[in-house]
Amino acid sequence: MLTAIIGGSGLANLDGLTITHREVTRTEFGEASGALTFGAMGGKDVVFLNRHGPGHTIPPHRVNYRANIFALKQVGVKQIIAINAVGGIDSNLEPVGLVIPDQIIDYTYGRKQTYFGSENGPVKHVDFTHPYTERLRKIIIDTANSNKIPVTPGGTYAATQGPRFETAAEIDRMERDGASIVGMTGMPEAALARELDLDYAAIAVVSNPAAGRSGSEISVEEIMIKLQLGMDKTRVLLELVIPRL
Ligand code: HPA
Repeated sequence: MLTAIIGGSGLANLDGLTITHREVTRTEFGEASGALTFGAMGGKDVVFLNRHGPGHTIPPHRVNYRANIFALKQVGVKQIIAINAVGGIDSNLEPVGLVIPDQIIDYTYGRKQTYFGSENGPVKHVDFTHPYTERLRKIIIDTANSNKIPVTPGGTYAATQGPRFETAAEIDRMERDGASIVGMTGMPEAALARELDLDYAAIAVVSNPAAGRSGSEISVEEIMIKLQLGMDKTRVLLELVIPRL
């Protein structure tokens, strides 16, 4: 079963992947964020896609999520592990913890969020009760546990529009809504994967306390430092997870 890893901020490439080739894919929804990198890891075929494009040039609200997921489907991908940088809303979730979310609240707007929105196209309503595939979540959590890599085995991902960070009041509202982490790229990616029947789970890397959750303002420099550490942990976890997929 072909697996895709979608890398987020701080994970522009996947060390440990023995690369066989790269492929630029066009889809009827446009071009993916960049070339798909094909290779093998732990005896499994893997495709890597850098969500923000070469040199991190595509901001969260301008990622062509439909093209990305469609391109992966086109090349035969069946399951996706997405990597997301997030802020911690729940004060127990500190940098550089890893969270395997099990729920989503979507606060994004104006994104092309469906394959079934055209005027004359088919109408389709997918079930999205459990936005992440439980089988994949379980493999990630079990692998982390058996290798003593601390992960938080659930959480609600608040997807925000960005590219600005949130206000403190917005974060308070998201917490009242039940969200524990906040990021800008979780949606519509997860829903599009569901529309195309692809299994999908995420590893969220906490890079900062969310707005108003620490004494200081949010600093991108600080986030990048924390993300390096978090992504190092994520790479280790991925190298253990992929052989078990
Ligand atoms: N908010 C939204 N997205 C993020 C954050 C945040 O605090 N940190 C990393 N991505």
